[in-house]
Amino acid sequence: MRILLTGASGLVGSNTAAAALRRGHSVHGIVGSWNGGAIPGLASVARIDLHDLAAVTTAVLEFFPDAIINAAAVAEPARCEADPGGSHALNVLLPQRLAELAHHLSCRLVHISSEQVFDGAHAPYARDDAVSPVNNYGRQKVESERLVHAAAENFAATVRAPLLMGNSPGGTRSVHERLFADWAAGRTARLFTDEIRQPCTAENLADALVELCERPDMRGVFHWAGAEAVSRHELGLRIARHFGVPAAGRIEETRLAGSPAAATRPANLALDLKPLAGRLTTRVQSIDEQLETLRVPHAARTWWGTLTG
Ligand SMILES: NC(=O)c1ccc[n+]([C@@H]2O[C@H](COP(=O)([O-])OP(=O)(O)OC[C@H]3O[C@@H](n4cnc5c(N)ncnc54)[C@H](OP(=O)(O)O)[C@@H]3O)[C@@H](O)[C@H]2O)c1
Repeated sequence: MRILLTGASGLVGSNTAAAALRRGHSVHGIVGSWNGGAIPGLASVARIDLHDLAAVTTAVLEFFPDAIINAAAVAEPARCEADPGGSHALNVLLPQRLAELAHHLSCRLVHISSEQVFDGAHAPYARDDAVSPVNNYGRQKVESERLVHAAAENFAATVRAPLLMGNSPGGTRSVHERLFADWAAGRTARLFTDEIRQPCTAENLADALVELCERPDMRGVFHWAGAEAVSRHELGLRIARHFGVPAAGRIEETRLAGSPAAATRPANLALDLKPLAGRLTTRVQSIDEQLETLRVPHAARTWWGTLTG
């Protein structure tokens, strides 16, 4: 299968390129500002500013894919609050155009949404539960879902993904990579004991995304995550323990409830994974299984080596 992959340099995109290669597909990747070297798994790569929808259209029509995976986004909620217009272009207008193109070409489209379409007060969330976003990022994801499925009803699958573990090309994007950045810089990570997430790795999500490309019968919005819902604080402790990093002085517990952040951070985003978990061959992973796949980010290796001897 010929897959066009946006966001190929990102946490999810880079893992998707590798997953697609493992499954025998040929991937044309689109990157933006990435200049960190070759992304394993890409057969070819183009640099395009995805705000330029005319350039996106030309790239898709020229490549003529069997499937498009949209892993490009402004994926940090804080950036969507700070730049609503710019993030709307990436998170809403881009997937809408990709869906129009998928419909035009009769090709598969796999789009990525987020657990943050929910408010966090009524977990666990099933895929048919009413959406209730509390921040711009969540609102943009809701809008993208609606527009994608309106434009490409017969071709699109959207996966709402959870907080992501995993290894990114730059080593700065995932949960453990951010913790290592704090620790190596001597900062204490303040983690909520009452903010519940159900993480999976980007690698595992990528397997599910590529499998969905191969399953055109599966259309609509789906949930994917890991097997366990835990607090941010517990997740941080388990990451520290896995890497032999003493948590004292490096992880501090705090509470979301009653803090200013509670207005825009959903408290509990546990997800019900039916029906996707039962219909894919990709397995839902425990947190221990996820931890086994994590690497110490390059920038923190010297610090970690000194700490652990
Ligand atoms: N990370 C999470 O915890 C998480 C959780 C749930 C859902 N998701 C969703 O998963 C998807 C992938 O997220 P991610 O974490 O992999 O994001 P990421 O690591 O920040 O990667 C974002 C990708 O988008 C590309 N991009 C952004 N602006 C661009 C532009 N103007 N032109 C061209 N490319 C541009 C980036 O390319 P360059 O770097 O080359 O510019 C990068 O490849 C998103 O839909 C996100 O909302 C993520």
